[in-house]
Amino acid sequence: MTLGMEAGMSAVTIGRAHWLRLGRVKDVGLGQGRCFKVGDTQIAVFRPREAGLRATGAVCPHRAGPLAQGIVGRDTVICPFHGYRFSLVDGRGLDNDFSVASYRVEVRDGEIFVELR
Ligand code: FES
Repeated sequence: MTLGMEAGMSAVTIGRAHWLRLGRVKDVGLGQGRCFKVGDTQIAVFRPREAGLRATGAVCPHRAGPLAQGIVGRDTVICPFHGYRFSLVDGRGLDNDFSVASYRVEVRDGEIFVELR
């Protein structure tokens, strides 16, 4: 285990891209999000009911609400603190001027991989 990673996480380099293996897809509830802490960074992985996985920064830029605990739609999450909406596609605020990081996420053999930039 690398310093700053939770148990079950690992860093992987594929080609020139650096990925983090965060855990198993089944550990993120359908229609929910989950926060993964990687050092000082918190990444929210969302599993919309409609399709696939999405990943964004986990801390709402308004007042640090936990986005992984928000209401997950097809392509949006609603912050549980004050209801601001964010795109799960690119992290931009949909009804506000804030934005969160968005991450490329893939599933390989049932495991969640998020690309680091
Ligand atoms: S903390 Fe997220 S909307 Fe206020």
